[in-house]
Amino acid sequence: MIMEQANFRRLSTDSSEIHEAASHLRRGGIVAFPTETVYGLGANAAKQAAVEALFALKQRPSDHPLIIHVSGLADASSWAKLNPLALRVIGALWPGPLSLVLPRRPAIPMHALAAQKTVALRCPSHPVARALLSQFSAIGGKGVAAPSANPYGKLSPTDPDHVESDMRRMMHAHASRRLRLSDPKLPDCWMIDGGPSDAGIESTVLDLSTDEPRVLRPGVISREQLESILGMPIPLIKPQAIEPKAQKRSTLLLPKSSGTLLSHYAPNKPLYVLDESLLAAKLAELHEQGCRRLALWGVEEKSIGDYEFEISLDLGALPDAPELIAQLLYRQLRSMDESAAEALIVVLPSPIDMLSNDKAWEAVIDRIERASYATKHGLISPKAVAKSDPVGHDMALPADSDMMFDAFEQPQQFEQPQQFEQTQEFEHAPQTPRQSPQPSPPQQPSPGEDATDDLDFDMSFDDLGANP
Ligand code: TXA
Ligand code: MG
Repeated sequence: MIMEQANFRRLSTDSSEIHEAASHLRRGGIVAFPTETVYGLGANAAKQAAVEALFALKQRPSDHPLIIHVSGLADASSWAKLNPLALRVIGALWPGPLSLVLPRRPAIPMHALAAQKTVALRCPSHPVARALLSQFSAIGGKGVAAPSANPYGKLSPTDPDHVESDMRRMMHAHASRRLRLSDPKLPDCWMIDGGPSDAGIESTVLDLSTDEPRVLRPGVISREQLESILGMPIPLIKPQAIEPKAQKRSTLLLPKSSGTLLSHYAPNKPLYVLDESLLAAKLAELHEQGCRRLALWGVEEKSIGDYEFEISLDLGALPDAPELIAQLLYRQLRSMDESAAEALIVVLPSPIDMLSNDKAWEAVIDRIERASYATKHGLISPKAVAKSDPVGHDMALPADSDMMFDAFEQPQQFEQPQQFEQTQEFEHAPQTPRQSPQPSPPQQPSPGEDATDDLDFDMSFDDLGANP
């Protein structure tokens, strides 16, 4: 049987096209859209077939929950109990690059939640994302599940052209796989071209589902900012800190989430990130292994010395602030990856261990460590690259290969239909009671409490009174 292929369409940010995109999402279509962090690949979180298509398209294991993007407080409240700590950070930082993990409400669509008792919510600040989500909400949508718009485990796209090429590749790969999904036809996949993303790396994921707030994924909002808003220390859960067996054993201990994987956000080619003092030894080692073509970022030409390396791409100096590196990180790694180089080298201003202890560097170091994990552990090497097509993508590992992405277990290959808990769509779910407004957040928040019912859902973020 020949399956009808899904169509791809690239839209502008004209309001009429954003309206079309919102309706497409509402009907179960897929729409990639710009956010202030990276591009998201969106689907109506209340539609099973749309969310299934999203998982299948990205080849994302079905036990990795997605972030639900909402237009504001009212929609957020439909999904989760907004406890006082949540209200406090929301007041200060939404809309913005912060995702909150919260206890979910009982009667919600579970398709994007990977059977978790919690839900991650994010209200992005990018004007196009806001317009899309407001329009989606205006026509009855409650939330858009949107992972980054890249194949699972790969570099997140921050540029519309990267989004288009990733989407076309994912659609092409999808068409050639035989998956047993509840609706085997992929919905049409659209993207809104909103120019390059600003921040360049993903949102911070803050877990407020227990009485001990913790950061599950460092991101654009620093832990220092969160600590000063909440007035308490907030630990970072480092992937290294999670004992592999424990992670495998229990999704209660920590949800299965790509934010806690050792290898993720990764180029296809080997990536070495080091400081100047280790460069000479690394170059000698690579030369010895027969590697001859390099892509460089932050490496002075003179450091290459006498080795006969061909420089496939030289991106020059590294910016001197972590936020500026974050802005460029995925774009630069992608162009290095797409060059003819057999190995990618990034030189940092100080040793990585030193930078890891600096909260300002936390998010950038986190992404760099994950992007280079497979190289560090010998899962990819310049040799494998040299043997394959010199400009090809996915040469060290095929795009479909997930072996390197999860240090703990093989992701599900979708041979079986995905198991999604059947829940009602919101339309049929019981309405959350609306009660009178509460002018300011309680003084002594306790995360166990459900303060949502005391909120007026039409209240704006500023009304929460936490904005400085
Ligand atoms: O900046 C961003 O957050 C981007 C843009 C598109 O908004 N989105 C994004 O989504 O990065 P994704 O799917 O690539 O990453 C989702 C992260 C995962 O790493 C996972 O750890 C976390 O969100 N997550 C989602 N639901 C969760 C839950 N219930 N508990 C814990 N973590 C969760
Ligand atoms: Mg991602």
